[in-house]
Amino acid sequence: MSDRVLIAGNWKMNLDPDEGARFMEQFVLDAAGRAEVLLFPPALTLDSVRRALLEDPPARRVSLGVQNIHPEAAGAFTGEISAEMASAAGAEFVLVGHSERRALFGETLGDTRAKVSAVQRARLVPLLCVGETLEERKRGELERVLVGQLDAVIGTESIRDGVIAGGAFVLAYEPVWAIGTGETATPGDAAEAHALLRSLLSERLSPAVSDRVPILYGGSVKPDNAAELLNAPEVSGVLVGGASLDPESFAAIVRAAG
Ligand code: 13P
Repeated sequence: MSDRVLIAGNWKMNLDPDEGARFMEQFVLDAAGRAEVLLFPPALTLDSVRRALLEDPPARRVSLGVQNIHPEAAGAFTGEISAEMASAAGAEFVLVGHSERRALFGETLGDTRAKVSAVQRARLVPLLCVGETLEERKRGELERVLVGQLDAVIGTESIRDGVIAGGAFVLAYEPVWAIGTGETATPGDAAEAHALLRSLLSERLSPAVSDRVPILYGGSVKPDNAAELLNAPEVSGVLVGGASLDPESFAAIVRAAG
C-alpha cells in the first residue's frame, strides 16, 4: 500500500477569493508533519490561495486542485473550464466523479471516463471519487457500485496504460450516506471498502502499480474521528468537506496524520 498520507480539503462552493486568502493566513501547518495537503477551492478562489502559498514558505507542502473540469481542452462550452486551464492556473489535481456531480449534475460513468482522460492529457492527477448510496448499501450492492464506478475509468485501456506508465492516480471512497450528514463510516466499513478497491486496482493494474495509488476516505471526517479513520487498514488519507472550511479544524485533521 502507498506510504503517502494525503489530507485533502474539498471546499465545494464555499470561500470566495478574500475568504480563501484569510483561511490561508490562519491555516498553520507543523513543518515536521508527514502529510501532504491538497486543497480544492472553487476555481475563482484558486489564485488567491496560490498567491498565499507563494508568500508563505512553511505552507509549501500544500498542493492545489480544482473540483471539476470539462473534457475538452477549449471551445464553445459556456461556463466550463478545461484541465489545461486548471493546470495553467496552478492546479495539480482534479476531482472527478464526486457524488454531488453525479447526483446533482447528472455526471455519468462515461463523463467520469472522459474527464479522467482529459486530466491525464493535461498531465494533472485525477482524484476519482467513488461510493454507494444508502439504498445501494442496504440492497447489498456495495461491490457492484464500486466495481462499476472504478471500471468505467480504469477499465479503459488508455487510462490504465497511462497509470501503469507512471501517471499518478488517486482514489477516494466516499459513501454518499456519510457526506455532509455527520454519519461517518466506521473504520471497519472504510477498511472493507478500501480492501475491495485495493484488490480491484491490483487486478486491473498490477499489485505493484496498485500499491502506488493512494485510497482516501471521505464522509464527515472531523478532528475527533480523523485519527481512527487514518489508522484503518488501506486508508491512505482523507477527503474532507465541511471540516476543511475552518483553518483550525482542518489543521487538526492534518496533525492527526502525524
Ligand atoms: P463532508 O466532510 O462535509 O461530509 O464532505 C465530504 C466530501 O464530500 C468531500 O469531498
